[in-house]
Amino acid sequence: MSRIRLEMKGITKSFGGVQALKGVDFSVNEGEIHALLGENGAGKSTLMNILGGVIPADAGEIWMDGRPVRISSPQDSKRCGISFIHQELNLIPDMTVYENLFLGSEMVSAYGFVDAKRMIQETRRILDMLGVQLDPEAIVGKLDASLKQVIEIAKSLLNESNIIIMDEPTTSLTDREIQHIFHVMRTLRSKGVSIIFISHKLQEVIQFCDRYTVLRDGELSSTGRIADTDEEKIAQAMVGKEVLKQQVYRPRALGEVVLEANGLHGGAFHDIRFTLRKGEILGFTGLSGAGHSELMEALFGYRPKTAGEVWIKGRTAVIRHPKQALASGLGFVPKNRKESAIIKDMSILENFTLASLGKVLRFGFIERKREREKFQAYREQINIKAGNPELPITSLSGGNQQKVILAKWLEADADIIILDNPTQGVDVGAKSEIYQLILELAEKGKSFIVLSSEIPEIQKLCDRVVVMYQGRVTAILDREEATEGRIMMYATGAKSQADTA
Ligand SMILES: Nc1ncnc2c1ncn2[C@@H]1O[C@H](COP(=O)(O)OP(=O)(O)OP(=O)(O)O)[C@@H](O)[C@H]1O
Ligand SMILES: [Mg+2]
Repeated sequence: MSRIRLEMKGITKSFGGVQALKGVDFSVNEGEIHALLGENGAGKSTLMNILGGVIPADAGEIWMDGRPVRISSPQDSKRCGISFIHQELNLIPDMTVYENLFLGSEMVSAYGFVDAKRMIQETRRILDMLGVQLDPEAIVGKLDASLKQVIEIAKSLLNESNIIIMDEPTTSLTDREIQHIFHVMRTLRSKGVSIIFISHKLQEVIQFCDRYTVLRDGELSSTGRIADTDEEKIAQAMVGKEVLKQQVYRPRALGEVVLEANGLHGGAFHDIRFTLRKGEILGFTGLSGAGHSELMEALFGYRPKTAGEVWIKGRTAVIRHPKQALASGLGFVPKNRKESAIIKDMSILENFTLASLGKVLRFGFIERKREREKFQAYREQINIKAGNPELPITSLSGGNQQKVILAKWLEADADIIILDNPTQGVDVGAKSEIYQLILELAEKGKSFIVLSSEIPEIQKLCDRVVVMYQGRVTAILDREEATEGRIMMYATGAKSQADTA
C-alpha cells in the first residue's frame, strides 16, 4: 500500500451566492499521478487554488504526511512542498531557460555576483534528471509549448516539491507533445513525487493516470483506481447520467467556394493555398508552431501577410485589420482566451453581445431583455454554467468562459467562422453539444475553419482537413482519408502530398 501524502477533508467554499465546494474530501498517495476530473464549473480549480494558497477555504482541513497544515498563502503552500503549474504559464519569453528557472531565487557567488555558471549546471542536472534534452541557455520564447511546460516542471523540482498540481497542462498541446510531458511525469512519479492532474481529455487520463477523483457540482462524485474504471464510467460520474456515444458527423451537400487562399505568405507560413465551400467544415491541424494559428490570425487581419491573395465570395478581399475581416463576413475565436478573447472588466452578458451588437442595438442602446433571452438560449443549449449573467466573466470557470466566447461568435453575423481549438478545456458533455451546434450551423450554410490539435475532434466534425508542417501545407485530406496515422505522418513532416504529386 502506498502512503497517503495529502488529505483534504470537508473543504467548503462559496463565492457570493455560488457554493463552489460543498465539503469535499480528496486524497493523494505518494508517487502517483492522480486525475482530478469533472464538468466545467465542478470546482476543480477552486479546490486546487485552496491547496495552492491562492484563495482561502471557508471550512475544512488539509493534512500532509499525516499532519495537519495551515495554508493561507502561496508561500505557505510552497513551504509544504506543493508546486502549482497554472494553465497559463508564467515564463518570461525573452529570457533563457536557466534564467526563468532561477527567477527570484538567483544563485549568487561568494563575491555577490550572479553565478550564471552554477545556475546553468544546476539547470542541466534537473533537465537530465527529467530526461529532457534542452539547452539551459536557449531563449524560452522560441521553444515548443511542451518544453515550456517542462520548464515549469523543472522549476517545481528546484523547489523540491513533492506535490505538483497541473491544471489542464495539455489542453493546447498536440498528441506528440503530450507524450513528452507524460514521459516527464512518469519520471517524477518514479522518484516519489505526487502529481495532481486536471484534464478534460479522458483518453489520456485513462492511459497515464493511476487514480482519479471526480467532482460534480462541488461534491465528491467518485474516486478510485483507474484500473478499475473506464472512460464511459468516468464520463457518467461527471455528468451524473449515461453519456450517449453519438455519431456527430452528418454528410451534407456543400455549396460554392466562399473563400479561397492563393499563395499566402507571412512570417510563419509559406505559399498557402486552400478553398472553403459554403456549409463546409474545414479542419486545420499540425504540431504547435506549424504556422496554422498564425495563418488564421493573418487571414483575420491580426498580423500581416507579405504576399498572396484572399478571395471571399468571388471577390478579392483586402484584410489588413480585423474590422475589414468582420466587414467581409469573417468571425474568429482565437486560441488563447486569456490574451485575446475575453474582456475581463466586462460582464458575462457584455462579453456575449460584443460581436453581435448590431442585432440587439436599437435606437442606440442595447436592449437588455433581448440580450438576456439570446444568452439564455445558448445557456441551455451548450450548458453554460453561470449564475447571474451580469457578473464579471472572470467569475466563470475556464471552460464556461470558453463557451460564452463561442456562443458570442455563433450568434454574430459572420458566415465564415474561424475557430482556433474551440473546445479547449470544455468538458466531454458540452463538447458534443458544441459539435452539434457547429454542424447545425453548417447545415444552414455557415462555413467553418476549425483549428484543432485533437484528431478525434477533426474526425467527428470536419469534411476535409489541411495538415501543416513548418509553415507549409503538407496535405489536404478528405474525411475518409483522415486517419490518425496519416495525419501524424503529414504533421511531422515524414511525408508531403507534394512528394507523390
Ligand atoms: N472568483 C470567483 N467568483 C465567483 N464565482 C467563482 C469564482 N471562481 C470560481 N467561481 C465559481 O465556482 C464554480 C467552480 O469553478 P471552478 O473554476 O472551480 O470550476 P472547474 O471545475 O475548474 O471548471 P473548468 O473545467 O471549466 O475549469 C463555478 O460555478 C464558478 O463560476
Ligand atoms: Mg478550472
